[in-house]
Amino acid sequence: MSIKSICCLGAGYVGGPTMAMIAAKCPDIQVTVADMNEKRIAAWNSDTLPIYEPGLDAVVASARGRNLHFTTDIRGSIAAADLIFVSVGTPTKSYGIGAGRAADLRYIESAARLIAEVSQGHKIIVEKSTIPVKTATAITSILAANSTTGATFQVLSNPEFLAEGTAMEDLMCPDRVLIGGETTPEGNAAVEALAAVYARWIPRERILTTNLWSSELSKLVANAFLAQRISSINSISALCEATGADVDEVARAVGMDSRIGPKFLKASLGFGGSCFQKDILNLVYLCDSFNLPHVAEYWRQVIHLNDWQKSRFVEKIVRTLYNTVNGKRIGVLGFAFKKDTNDTRESPAIHVCRDLLLERAHLAIYDPRVSRETIQQDLLDVGVPADLIASNIEFSPDPYTAATGAHALATLTEWDEFRTLDLPRLHDLMLKPAFIFDGRAVLASDLLKAHGFDAFVIGKGA
Ligand code: NAD
Ligand code: UGA
Repeated sequence: MSIKSICCLGAGYVGGPTMAMIAAKCPDIQVTVADMNEKRIAAWNSDTLPIYEPGLDAVVASARGRNLHFTTDIRGSIAAADLIFVSVGTPTKSYGIGAGRAADLRYIESAARLIAEVSQGHKIIVEKSTIPVKTATAITSILAANSTTGATFQVLSNPEFLAEGTAMEDLMCPDRVLIGGETTPEGNAAVEALAAVYARWIPRERILTTNLWSSELSKLVANAFLAQRISSINSISALCEATGADVDEVARAVGMDSRIGPKFLKASLGFGGSCFQKDILNLVYLCDSFNLPHVAEYWRQVIHLNDWQKSRFVEKIVRTLYNTVNGKRIGVLGFAFKKDTNDTRESPAIHVCRDLLLERAHLAIYDPRVSRETIQQDLLDVGVPADLIASNIEFSPDPYTAATGAHALATLTEWDEFRTLDLPRLHDLMLKPAFIFDGRAVLASDLLKAHGFDAFVIGKGA
């Protein structure tokens, strides 16, 4: 079966960039991204895309209007497609059974029901969203029970491993593409059809095929392992601070062991992003459901450590500022969950800013990509009263304005521009002692001290 027309349900951080790359690499395949969010689709069709991702604008521009389309006509797009990616959100459930742990699969289910209702002939359905293992069974049964036209379906798992900020590089040159399918002749044919799409630009040896359950589970496990590395190095950051060791030096020494490897060993004030926490919670819930409490507890600890890392950073700030930040101006540098994205989902900055506001600090926040509306909404969502947000936050156009008259600065995102800040200028603008709390270790602590700052850099001993 050769694919001529692809549709993707969900025009988010995964659906948009992934489909743009497929369209750019496969000019003979029509690729339509469909979403009910009219504002988001309008932005995808405009010059200001709804997400910031280096290199994305050029890839979209190369294919949009030719074979890449963004639409709210979900039914029409499903009807026209040979292959349908489901790339809708799978957030942590906030209600009922499994609240706070299980994945909320309502968007997946409603997408499956709509596909069943609209489809005719044979279609390949691809789980692109991150889902609990065995979701393909649920999708298959919904499709079979709800099709009235005799349509047939093959469900594949094809999890996405891109990271925000490097999404286009990751899509262009992935470590691997994983495709799971039923081990039947029909399943193998569907796997081969999808593999042939990726093979247009990805070497065959990097296209890995497995059974459905291995593919679904591998995605959760990959994120759990990545997050575990961060919690591991963050746990060591606290020990470095206590002993006088330097966490970057330790990470380098440890990471040069080829069995360990150097990546993902950067200490921080905790990991954020929409997926690590939700996917580990999902894994923990699965383990509990399969009566594996020891396994569940092991992974739960990765999140506990991450929560502790965020709160100990705030405690460090409050304790250092003579046990009160009430009425004090603190310049906040960065709000996104990592550099090179405008995404703030689960950003550690949200937790730090919430706790500082509840201590009655005045925050002057600067982020090069995150809008003030997003910041306000994020803080409302975590329970900061609206009047406190209105009275105690100002939005600064640059780091120097944020620093003016500030008791302290806190670096919460590792934007490259913070590495080259004019330290003497910052020091002049601030109240004295001029405190800096660098939660991303972007600034060299000896340099900060040489310029007269009272500096705390995560993972750097005194
Ligand atoms: P997102 O919230 O940015 O986008 C999801 C979109 O799906 C929304 O715009 C929503 O309106 C739309 N949607 C919901 N139901 C729909 C339906 N029935 N038809 C059409 N559109 C529908 O989410 P995201 O960040 O793109 O993540 C999507 C999935 O990919 C999640 O399961 C996530 O875990 C996974 N994932 C995300 C990343 C990442 O970097 N963000 C990376 C890998 C995997
Ligand atoms: C992560 C994974 O890296 C992707 O492979 C996966 O596809 C994606 O989740 C997903 O499933 O959503 P992402 O969250 O976009 O990607 O970004 P990462 O680079 O993994 O960073 C996550 C968080 O960890 C950020 O807050 C980052 O600052 C932090 N981090 C990362 C560290 O604190 N230290 C590190 O060494 C690396």
